[in-house]
Amino acid sequence: MREKILVFDTTLRDGEQSPGASLNVQEKVEIARQLEKLGVDIIEAGFPASSPLQLEAVQRICDGSKSVIAALARAVENDISAAWKALSPAGRPRIHTFISTSDIHILGKFGSDRYGTNLREKRQNVLRMAVDAVKFAKTFTPDVEFSAEDAGRTEPGYLAEIIAAVIEAGAKTVNIPDTTGYTWPSEFGGKIARLIADVPNIGDAVVSVHCHNDLGLAVANSLSAVENGARQIECTVNGIGERAGNASLEEIVMALKVRADLHHFQTGIVTEEIYNTSRMVSAFTGIIIQPNKAVVGDNAFAHESGIHQDGMLKSRETYEVMTPQSVGVPETSIVLGRHSGKHGLQARLLALGYKLGDQELETVYRRFVDIADKKKEVYDDDLRVLMGDELGRPGGTYELDYMHINSGTASIPTATVRIREENQLYEESATGDGPVDACFRAIERALGIESMVSTYTVRSTTAGRQALGEALVRIRDGNISFNGRGVSTDIIEASAKAYLQALGQRRLHNQNTLSETTDNGV
Ligand code: KIV
Ligand code: ZN
Repeated sequence: MREKILVFDTTLRDGEQSPGASLNVQEKVEIARQLEKLGVDIIEAGFPASSPLQLEAVQRICDGSKSVIAALARAVENDISAAWKALSPAGRPRIHTFISTSDIHILGKFGSDRYGTNLREKRQNVLRMAVDAVKFAKTFTPDVEFSAEDAGRTEPGYLAEIIAAVIEAGAKTVNIPDTTGYTWPSEFGGKIARLIADVPNIGDAVVSVHCHNDLGLAVANSLSAVENGARQIECTVNGIGERAGNASLEEIVMALKVRADLHHFQTGIVTEEIYNTSRMVSAFTGIIIQPNKAVVGDNAFAHESGIHQDGMLKSRETYEVMTPQSVGVPETSIVLGRHSGKHGLQARLLALGYKLGDQELETVYRRFVDIADKKKEVYDDDLRVLMGDELGRPGGTYELDYMHINSGTASIPTATVRIREENQLYEESATGDGPVDACFRAIERALGIESMVSTYTVRSTTAGRQALGEALVRIRDGNISFNGRGVSTDIIEASAKAYLQALGQRRLHNQNTLSETTDNGV
């Protein structure tokens, strides 16, 4: 009998903290549904105290969920109450509370004298706050997880002391994050082994790890931790996350599966759902998967050199340690076109992991027909990007009603746009350095705002000159960034839509008031 390793997916929380990623509520719900299909054990759905939209997203994900749903909370009562409010519709809720435990974090975050006047006092206060937080969380649910932030750099004796205390207070999972991605595999494995040896009540909790990838070691560190006693791994789809990201779910799962000859572990992941999940996350977050990315990159199963191709034709095992089918890479891409009906589209979307209601299907079908009219063949990746574009439109935002561009080698680029905002129409023209610049300036004039684009990228979603273009725009307003995504066979139109979406996100954000931050360590 193999021992089960629990897969705790934090794509919707730590993954969403990736620079440039921002998911709206509907997109998070779709990803959560797909994560359930993938078979993850725990879905970390968000950090409810950080904004009303995060709270709403967690609530919506909980609704009808079968997996354990976790919500993050700092070790303060307000955060824990917000997490519980968000989790209340869940069948299997988990409160995940955390506090920093390394000296470097403690001195940096708890500098004020009210946490103690020296390191020893501050450590004692942090321990007390951790225990109080776990006890408070336990008043709502028996399933409480505690994380010692920056455990990778925490003094081992103190780490053991705080972990023993939170287990005593009722934590059922104790998570050991390598928050800065600093540790080395044998070192991290050793830390886990030592912790298990030093904490007398460790048997009352599941030991979990959460590794960041700053040195490219997140997966290796996680596997080393498993070899040394960890039984839950926290990870993200495509390895997205803060800075260089988190341990990648697909790499951990496939490493455990392919090298099952080396150990006695297994996960509950339906590996054939990996590819669809990976593509969905990429399409919704706008974070492109590098072609040579292990398991899910475009080149993961491509064989370029003649010698390799020859070997592959004779026997796949010559150069492949797993089959594309085992991770759900389709053998052929089914192509839809303008003659494909609504049912054909619905069936294809379902196969890709998107389950639409009648109304949603109607809207997506209209967009599909429009695209199929312009480009003969509509590929799976086109559909994924189209879904990302559709779900990326929260209600009440700006819509591009009309656009006209005049551009050429011998003329000044000029754009006219008409924008719809509920029942209002705004129309303006402008010139610019190029057609996109002219278009953005016309939008700014029409809406009466200043230019604020900080990042702008365009890419094609599939190969060929008829490919759909996807534009990503980020705008900054003070310290906050807002992202927009637009899709069209015309990249100027895609760019205008992306800019309008980012502006719409900013407007929605300004309508929602951010919850107050505290100085307890985040
Ligand atoms: O990296 C980290 O330490 C975290 C914790 C909040 C679990 O994300
Ligand atoms: Zn993290």
